[in-house]
Amino acid sequence: MQPVRNEQNAAMAPVNERTEGVAAGQGQGRIEIRGLQKVYASAKTQFEALRDIDLTIAENEFLTILGPSGCGKSTLLRIVAGLEDPTGGELTVDGDAIIGPGADRGMVFQGYTLFPWLTVRENIEYGPKLKGVPTLVRRGLSSHWLKIIRLESFAKSYPKQLSGGMKQRVAIARALANRPKVLLMDEPFGALDAQTKLEMQEMLLEVWEREKTTVLFITHDIDEAIFLSQRIVVMGANPGRIIREFQVELPNERTADVRETPGFLKLKRELAQLLKHD
Ligand SMILES: Nc1ncnc2c1ncn2[C@@H]1O[C@H](COP(=O)(O)OP(=O)(O)OP(=O)(O)O)[C@@H](O)[C@H]1O
Ligand SMILES: [Mg+2]
Repeated sequence: MQPVRNEQNAAMAPVNERTEGVAAGQGQGRIEIRGLQKVYASAKTQFEALRDIDLTIAENEFLTILGPSGCGKSTLLRIVAGLEDPTGGELTVDGDAIIGPGADRGMVFQGYTLFPWLTVRENIEYGPKLKGVPTLVRRGLSSHWLKIIRLESFAKSYPKQLSGGMKQRVAIARALANRPKVLLMDEPFGALDAQTKLEMQEMLLEVWEREKTTVLFITHDIDEAIFLSQRIVVMGANPGRIIREFQVELPNERTADVRETPGFLKLKRELAQLLKHD
């Protein structure tokens, strides 16, 4: 898939300006999930949140999980992030078992998970700083990302001085500045207005194309799922499970008008039908 081209993207840094050598991880990021189970148990009740999830996400794939509220999407993502333990099954990233959070997996959630006491630049540099990346390299890295997310003039601002869309852009930059193999996104644009959401989707595709990161994305929004993804996995609830999978057969160039193409509309109808009946 080629990145979306528009005027804003044209202002972005060319590919050869990427800040190389900060971390390994490029061109990897294969996620394997086998027989995943999650049961939430309390003294009196048991709730089967996920049943028999089998899913392989190829390196550099953009895969979206779509499904009704409560079907276990966030639970699945938190388990891949290593924030929660499964009650059964196996999960690996490039063959390594997931046993907790790690720098190989970057996360962007719906709430703005920026550190309020750090400036925009410091937020972006946070991960590399933890990894011991030297100050000057870090500075280059944050400048690179500030340019991509078009917030150069907000480098010294604090999160509370930014709009929702700006904060979410910083959250994405912060996750990616750490050069993760995998980017995990749980409804990252859910709280944004329609126009900002479209801009964010285009920016994300551009960044994904450039960084060669594997993306596991969660949304309720059918249009968003089709526009962004190479593959869509639909989950059903009670218990949370995979019910169908769709390859998104759309032109590589995902410009805004791809949303009007017969292929897009056909898939949209099919997905809407499926979600209505589940
Ligand atoms: N810590 C927990 N203890 C008990 N049950 C939980 C816990 N976390 C989630 N659940 C239950 O697991 C199910 C799946 O929750 P999850 O948050 O994964 O859904 P989701 O698909 O992300 O929903 P939404 O689209 O609304 O975000 C829900 O029924 C929820 O009540
Ligand atoms: Mg959720």
